[in-house]
Amino acid sequence: MAGPISRLAAFSDTFGQMLDDIDRVLVTREQIAQRIQELARQITDDHTTAEGETEITLVPILTGAMVLAADLMRHMPVRMKIGLMTVSSYPGKSLRTQGSNVLGSQLGDIHGRHILLLDDILDSGGTLRKVVPLLKEMGPASVKVCVLLRKDRSVAKETPCDYVGFDIPDEFVVGYGLDFDDYYRNLPEIVTLKKAVTATAASLNG
Ligand code: IMP
Ligand code: MG
Repeated sequence: MAGPISRLAAFSDTFGQMLDDIDRVLVTREQIAQRIQELARQITDDHTTAEGETEITLVPILTGAMVLAADLMRHMPVRMKIGLMTVSSYPGKSLRTQGSNVLGSQLGDIHGRHILLLDDILDSGGTLRKVVPLLKEMGPASVKVCVLLRKDRSVAKETPCDYVGFDIPDEFVVGYGLDFDDYYRNLPEIVTLKKAVTATAASLNG
């Protein structure tokens, strides 16, 4: 079979069992790579003033946004620092948000700095509604938000967000940083999982 899943099979020694769990590929690695470059250019332009570029503090929300952050920052020729925040909203085998909890942060002094908050996916908006005000309380010069994916839900579309990589259907996805029970983050494409895989989580997601 040609197509993204068969190309992943070339790595089957590494990805092994995970390939059998995939239902569909929603966004390919080529599409992601292309869009990341576009986003990086737009974000860099938006942070460049007549006097020159401004400094950024990139804040990926861990764990999901670490892959996005690693790829995006290498296309941003801007002086930047990195801050970290760990937020949990889909603990374990959850397929729906269980409420967002800030588990920890390592931001440094962000007073007066331009913050670019990164998240893997915008779903209920609960994470951003919790994290953006927390950051604003620390007196940054600005806070902008970039998400790789946004689900086709009105609550997601109504949540303020400056940069969106892809609008996707309202389905549970994994890969490129996104997980199910902390697995699948290392898949290079955005995929859905077979029902038989996620069915193990029925009690949590009733
Ligand atoms: P929100 O707070 O409901 O907008 O969801 C944001 C967080 O929930 C993301 O940072 C993800 O960690 C997680 N999440 C939402 N949808 C998915 C999904 O389809 N797959 C994996 N994680 C998800
Ligand atoms: Mg997350």
